[in-house]
Amino acid sequence: MYSITDSLKSECLILPLFEGEKLSKETLAHDDMLRAGIAHAMKFEDFTGKKLQTTLLYAGEKETPRVLLIGLGKKKDLTVRTWKQAVGTSIIAMQGKKYTSLAMVVPEEVKKTFGAKKTARQTVLAAGLASYAFDEYKSEKDARVVEMKSLAFLHISGSEKRAWQSGMEDGEKMSDAINETRRLANTPPTIMTPVFLAKAAQNVVKTFPAIKVSVLGKTEAKKLGMGCFLGVAQGSVLPPQFIIMEYMGGKKTEKPTVLVGKGITFDSGGLSLKPSAYMTDMKFDMLGAATVLGTIRAAAALGLKKNIVGLMPACENMPGGNSYRPDDILVNMEGKTVEIGNTDAEGRLILCDALSYAKKYQPKEVIDFATLTGACMVALGNERSGLFSQEETMIEKLMKSSEETGEQLWRLPLGEEYTEAIKSEVADVANVGDVGGRGYAGASTAAAFLEFFTKNVETGEAAYPWAHIDLSCSYYGGKGKPWIRHGANGFGIETMIDYLS
Ligand code: BES
Ligand code: ZN
Ligand code: ZN
Repeated sequence: MYSITDSLKSECLILPLFEGEKLSKETLAHDDMLRAGIAHAMKFEDFTGKKLQTTLLYAGEKETPRVLLIGLGKKKDLTVRTWKQAVGTSIIAMQGKKYTSLAMVVPEEVKKTFGAKKTARQTVLAAGLASYAFDEYKSEKDARVVEMKSLAFLHISGSEKRAWQSGMEDGEKMSDAINETRRLANTPPTIMTPVFLAKAAQNVVKTFPAIKVSVLGKTEAKKLGMGCFLGVAQGSVLPPQFIIMEYMGGKKTEKPTVLVGKGITFDSGGLSLKPSAYMTDMKFDMLGAATVLGTIRAAAALGLKKNIVGLMPACENMPGGNSYRPDDILVNMEGKTVEIGNTDAEGRLILCDALSYAKKYQPKEVIDFATLTGACMVALGNERSGLFSQEETMIEKLMKSSEETGEQLWRLPLGEEYTEAIKSEVADVANVGDVGGRGYAGASTAAAFLEFFTKNVETGEAAYPWAHIDLSCSYYGGKGKPWIRHGANGFGIETMIDYLS
């Protein structure tokens, strides 16, 4: 699908340009007509290179009749994020026209800024993500997105070729893994059950046998005493599944990084039922788990030399005759007791048993992913995810990785006042916190709840370094993200792979 080429044969050439930039002498030197056409169009200043501005020209000779100019904005403002947005926007524009064989000239400035390998990786990754659409349920073939068949890169110099090739391969592996995560999350919730998710994890092993998957059912979870996880699950007719993925690509002696992901396959709120408007999109409440699955799949595909364990408690949060109730007190697998104030704060409950279970690995570190709180979305909007940790080194490294990939994280606080807010009069802790009596700081009180379960029961000290990523904010596309279509965008996998590499 992706290649390096010297001959310009495609339905359309994608030409990203910076604001105010003219075509350099070397670019497309072999095709005078095309060069003249582009120069002519630029004279009119319809296209000035403003960020994500597009113009389609019919300027080339037979082999490549069309050119899409895409603006990159000012040179000094170039970021990985802008570059990926430009690539994604171009691919989606091409699909709109139903062009499937494409070529692209990557500006020298971009290659110089990020290096050949990273540029290739990020370009292919963005193109791969833009190519995926959740349209398999559309009956009319014409209504479906036409998939890109080829994307060839021009003007890759001899010395860049090897790095470019390897970057392209990595980028494709990454976008395959991320699109798998998106596909799982977009799948309607009656199909995407805990058992379906467990099967999806088992399926990954077929392609990547280095991964080991095991699944604990209700009986095993009960034996382990996972009372919080099972409490949430009991209102649903669907059996819960505690999914474990292990990829041990590192040295035997190396402690694993444990990734924990919230796998609520549908969050109705339970007896504390959500209002209808808040219930749509709750099929995405398993995205934490899907992110962990995608990260482990990508790690295996890339052959990372790291030991990584994924823990994915999966169940449904439903109202029913056997639902857990407000005022219940659930007992976590380490014996910690939780007063239920609201059954819609279920994510933290299934995660707390996973955070306890993680201790058996004596992990190097634990990072959890969860669409945990609406409050995080209120705080950060739709373009950043909340990051919580008391470990400065983890914060620093995660922030750096998020900058490298263009996924945006923003640190939010943990602290005494939030820990105080989730204290219960009748149990060790309550599943809803209340700062100031109006549910203020909901993202932080949720994080403080999780933090409680990362501590040793006896000493109260941290059992492992831990970070929490609240995905609620940026898990899906839509407004303001023309380069991503409906549904899950796979946020977090790129950052995690950079972090683990
Ligand atoms: N899954 C939701 C959080 C959520 C909301 C994610 C919107 C993505 C978009 C979570 O289980 C939830 O319902 N949280 C409650 C907690 C509250 C009851 C303390 C919330 O945020 O309202
Ligand atoms: Zn909920
Ligand atoms: Zn939820």
